[in-house]
Amino acid sequence: MADTPRCTILVGSLRRDSINKAAADCAGEYLAGRFTLYQPDLSGIPPFNQDVEDAGDPPAVADLKAAVSGSELVLIFSPEYNYGIPGLLKNTIDWLSRPFRAGTLMGKVVGITSVTPGSRGGENSREQLLQTCGVLTERLYRVTLGIPNVSELENGTIPESSRSALHHWLEELVLFSQKVTDADDF
Ligand SMILES: Cc1cc2nc3c(=O)[nH]c(=O)nc-3n(C[C@H](O)[C@H](O)[C@H](O)COP(=O)(O)O)c2cc1C
Repeated sequence: MADTPRCTILVGSLRRDSINKAAADCAGEYLAGRFTLYQPDLSGIPPFNQDVEDAGDPPAVADLKAAVSGSELVLIFSPEYNYGIPGLLKNTIDWLSRPFRAGTLMGKVVGITSVTPGSRGGENSREQLLQTCGVLTERLYRVTLGIPNVSELENGTIPESSRSALHHWLEELVLFSQKVTDADDF
């Protein structure tokens, strides 16, 4: 049987009951079977420091880069913090952006989702992620998904209506991914 393509899922929250982590888990369950999934723990990624980078990527960074390198698809699930990208996630993307102009996200299809208790579904963080990821891959999926009004988990997961929206968005994203990958095969 041919290997399934790989997908790395990055979550911009370390909170145990994170609504973004729950949405990421939901996406992983939905895509299981079609993709080999990897959801790294970002808590071990050190603050970006070019001196450290010059001495060689720390093991957690090297592992992350290897996983992303081998992935066709990268999904980002992130809260919005103070109208922007949480530091944890921005720091991770900064590591992945290296080396300059040949970063690990190059050629990857990247999809962006934000889940929030508020009514705007993290539109600022999604917009900033579009800007940042837009210079790091030519295969950015520009249709982001904002899932608003999720205050708490229901039985450990996001509400049914949010799950449906997520599944629909994932289908469109997978179609986009197949289209750009097929175009590349010519
Ligand atoms: C430091 C901080 C800043 C926040 N800023 C925003 C914000 O700008 N916009 C927003 O919609 N929610 C904001 N929130 C609320 C988060 O959306 C909410 O805590 C959410 O549950 C965090 O995501 P998580 O459950 O995945 O950890 C903020 C929360 C924190 C802790």
